[in-house]
Amino acid sequence: MSCLFQDEASPASLTDLCLALVSSRLQIFCVKLADGSLCLREPVVFPQELADQLLCKMATEGLLNDSTVGIFRSCQQLRLRRACIRTARISSEAFRRAVCPHRLLELDASRVNADLTIPDILRGLSGSKALREGLQRLVLNGLTMLSLEEPSRRCFGSLRGLRALSISNVDFYDAGLADACSLPRLESLDISNTSVTNLTPLLGLRATLRYLTMHQLKRLEMSTTQLLAVLSQLEGLQHLDISDDKQFTSDVAQQLLAAPGILPELVSLDVSGRKQVTDAAVRAFVEERPGMTFVGLLATDAGFSDFLSGEGSLKVTGEANETQICEALRRYSEREGFVREALFHLFSLTHVMEKARPDILKLVALGMKNHPSTLNVQLAASACVFNLTKQDLAFGMPVRLLGNVTQLLLEAMKTFPNHQQLQKNCLLSLCSDRILQEVPFNRFEAAKLVMQWLCNHEDQNMQRMAVAIISILAAKVRCPRCLQQLLHIVRQKTSQGAVDATLKFTLSALWNLTDESPTTCRHFIENQGLELFIKVLESFPLEASIQQKVLGLLNNIAEVRELHVELMVQGFLDHIGTLLHSPEVEVSYFAAGILAHLTSRGETVWTLDLPLRTTLLEQLHSAILKWPTPECEMVAYRSFNPFFPLLECFQTPGVQLWAAWAMQHVCSKNAARYCSMLLEEGGLQQLDAVRSHPETHSDVRRLAENILDSLHRHQARYSGSTGHKRFDAKLFLIYTVLYMVSTETIVKERYAVLLAKI
Ligand SMILES: *[C@@H]1O[C@H](CO)[C@@H](O)[C@H](O)[C@H]1NC(C)=O
Ligand SMILES: *[C@@H]1O[C@H](CO)[C@@H](O)[C@H](O)[C@H]1NC(C)=O
Ligand SMILES: *[C@@H]1O[C@H](CO)[C@@H](O)[C@H](O)[C@H]1NC(C)=O
Ligand SMILES: *[C@@H]1O[C@H](CO)[C@@H](O)[C@H](O)[C@H]1NC(C)=O
Ligand SMILES: *[C@@H]1O[C@H](CO)[C@@H](O)[C@H](O)[C@H]1NC(C)=O
Ligand SMILES: *[C@@H]1O[C@H](CO)[C@@H](O)[C@H](O)[C@H]1NC(C)=O
Repeated sequence: MSCLFQDEASPASLTDLCLALVSSRLQIFCVKLADGSLCLREPVVFPQELADQLLCKMATEGLLNDSTVGIFRSCQQLRLRRACIRTARISSEAFRRAVCPHRLLELDASRVNADLTIPDILRGLSGSKALREGLQRLVLNGLTMLSLEEPSRRCFGSLRGLRALSISNVDFYDAGLADACSLPRLESLDISNTSVTNLTPLLGLRATLRYLTMHQLKRLEMSTTQLLAVLSQLEGLQHLDISDDKQFTSDVAQQLLAAPGILPELVSLDVSGRKQVTDAAVRAFVEERPGMTFVGLLATDAGFSDFLSGEGSLKVTGEANETQICEALRRYSEREGFVREALFHLFSLTHVMEKARPDILKLVALGMKNHPSTLNVQLAASACVFNLTKQDLAFGMPVRLLGNVTQLLLEAMKTFPNHQQLQKNCLLSLCSDRILQEVPFNRFEAAKLVMQWLCNHEDQNMQRMAVAIISILAAKVRCPRCLQQLLHIVRQKTSQGAVDATLKFTLSALWNLTDESPTTCRHFIENQGLELFIKVLESFPLEASIQQKVLGLLNNIAEVRELHVELMVQGFLDHIGTLLHSPEVEVSYFAAGILAHLTSRGETVWTLDLPLRTTLLEQLHSAILKWPTPECEMVAYRSFNPFFPLLECFQTPGVQLWAAWAMQHVCSKNAARYCSMLLEEGGLQQLDAVRSHPETHSDVRRLAENILDSLHRHQARYSGSTGHKRFDAKLFLIYTVLYMVSTETIVKERYAVLLAKI
């Protein structure tokens, strides 16, 4: 099993990374021409397959437009053979100049923007002799058919080399079908969801047609007898898809299965969504054609017999068991109705799943990705995601797959902000240690979405979950309304006297939200946060973990000089002074931090009586000297900026001592992070100044020397690398890969020159 998912479990391939980088930073490699289009700066010649891959990447990542597609105008540098411009936004002019000059074998232009119509594309393609004869596969799903009836119309008929044509979800009528059916070599035709009413023109393809897909032909005006009369003459047909998700009452499937000897070459038949299909009829049909490899039976009443289990060489889509459902998700990923149906059945299976199933999660993700704005798909998919990644199951899933799935969940939350059940499914799935801690996704966006949800809802269970997610994610999200909501939760819990997970998560979130954010700190004060937090301290005097979080937040407030006047209140200082003597070092530490910030204010600014300040400073100094070394990191800092002013307070060694102790603490617990940070922020100069200052207290000097030693050791170990060097390394990688994968000597020589330059 495991080799199936190697691609998700292992990192992205080097080629992929390089293409992603080139396509996202195209400007770096290009010059801009007068008409705004880009042109590669270096005369590099891309290996042919890489050119196809680059175009496809740019298209699917939404980076292909009139300007960027310009790089493909040069057919020597970037030679396209299998061009994919799916969902691109380009004009017909840009298409003509950049795509049509290539000797294409294939073109997939599914769902490009409406300005590029089917007539535009046909006009562009049939203007080139090479394409009229050489183009073999053309995919135009979901495009606009604006003006096929124009007098000088260009049509499919001129693309004589076409073997495969796909025009599903297009306003395509009988005249268009007649045109397509004049193609001499056409083997494969997909006219799903078009407006064709009569299929008689298909008889023109009697000699060549092998694959016929006509899912959901909504306008068909033929009786079953007429339809079968046409189909029965397509004797070479190997694949026939007459599925329909509108549950038509037509009995065409039933009649087809019962017609003796019809379509003898058939190996694949899809009748999903058709009524009156029975296992017995399917069995008889398959037994008559032993080469059959596929039957589509989703949303029929068939598929429940053993011989249709889908386990052997006969693949089956259906709802009878996991194999059939997964087959349906795989085959029908672009068909909204079927995806919803399959997900619905999958959900009932996930109740009993005990092992991690990345293969299934991937299929769910595919359905979500293809139908972002279909509520029923997102609803069923998010429920499946939750069940498939619940608790330990998440640890069996590859990180990159989870990253993709999480991003899709966020998309869904954004698209349907007011749908309770969907939001709930997504929050439930997000609330996972594995996802929140280890998986790459846009955490900023996630925190914003969860916050929005929290602001609009009061459901108790969901609230706990949302707050838990926020407390881990919210490092950077600032939002006054959300602050109010979080304070509201603290108020509720405190008046209930309830110490529970919600309270702890909420306090953590608030602590994180106020970190180095003076505006949020001010909002906190304006919303009576200080009074509330004093009440919390009084309500839970024995809960060190609560006290720590409350004091941690108050430290953030105390870092904002303009707010000191709010904190210089006798009762508050008395309370904090008591906590300074707490036996728990993490409580004492944060109490000391508040006092250090407040007493650092000079005598002229200090608004309470001066003897109090002196007493507090003495207590501070002696408390710090008694602290044992904590076992773990008590706190995380974003920068050392709040500490530097404290280090300069030579008149108040207690204040300096606290700042130095804090620096020494984090630097010794996590040197990689904090020594680098301290060096970058100019800590060496600051600490040197403290060490060499004549008035420095010996306790402070000792700590400063300790930290300086750590910094020097750290410096010796890592000599810093610059952003510039890193970028060159990336360029180097790209060229190396291009060099390695290219097989032509001339290409190799060109890259060798480039590599030498770097
Ligand atoms: C084309 O796409 C690139 C990359 O996304 C973007 O920087 C540029 O502004 C776009 N140009 C036009 C004309 O839309
Ligand atoms: C069917 O095709 C029409 C265009 O003719 C399109 O608007 C519609 O979304 C398509 N339906 C589905 C289910 O894709
Ligand atoms: C699918 O169903 C068949 C019976 O219809 C059963 O034999 C087979 O084991 C099932 N497969 C799975 C994966 O459940
Ligand atoms: C899947 O979800 C359903 C409904 O929420 C629940 O009853 C079931 O226990 C879940 N299964 C697993 C494996 O979590
Ligand atoms: C994740 O999404 C990206 C972009 O949509 C896709 O290229 C990649 O294959 C996906 N990876 C997995 C593991 O699904
Ligand atoms: C606060 O945010 C940081 C990220 O900056 C995160 O690592 C930490 O876990 C958060 N703290 C709490 C208590 O949630």
